Amino acid sequence: METKEKGKVFTSESEGGIWFTFSRRNILTLAGWGLFFAAIGAYLSQILGYKGFFYPKVLFEPSPRFSVGEPRYFPENSVTTLKSRKMFVVRDGNSFKAISVVCQHLGCAVEFSKEKNIFECPCHGSKYYRNGVNFAGPAPRPLNHFEIVLDDSGKLVVDTSKVVPIETELIV
Ligand code: FES
Repeated sequence: METKEKGKVFTSESEGGIWFTFSRRNILTLAGWGLFFAAIGAYLSQILGYKGFFYPKVLFEPSPRFSVGEPRYFPENSVTTLKSRKMFVVRDGNSFKAISVVCQHLGCAVEFSKEKNIFECPCHGSKYYRNGVNFAGPAPRPLNHFEIVLDDSGKLVVDTSKVVPIETELIV
């Protein structure tokens, strides 16, 4: 049962034990506590970070192992640039190689010149043969070659976390 007195609300269970008076003082006190807790919450969220407390602190990077499609997508005797993956797929007959675009001098992206049939670095002029071996400019070594395999579904899969010797090739 609920009873009312002027300015007070009583519940039946306590008959006056739980009550709230709608006075200006009580409302201002409540507002003050509300502001206090809001400030504490804002401070803690700054310290803990909005998501930092609830989510693991890891970098979400794409997997270094990915499919580049079936061999038939790559024309015979071609060099295909996969810019988003920072690599070339070089096909010579039935031989496939996965070669990095990263120049071994200072890390610029090399480009393939169809006319000259070589890789050239636009930064300081390093040149690489089609098989990735350096022959001019300041690059000290060949372009990195990545592991390339054929999976069970017949697609080429490259793993850029695995650098293999430059003579490595996949024959399909
Ligand atoms: S970064 Fe390629 S030659 Fe310097």
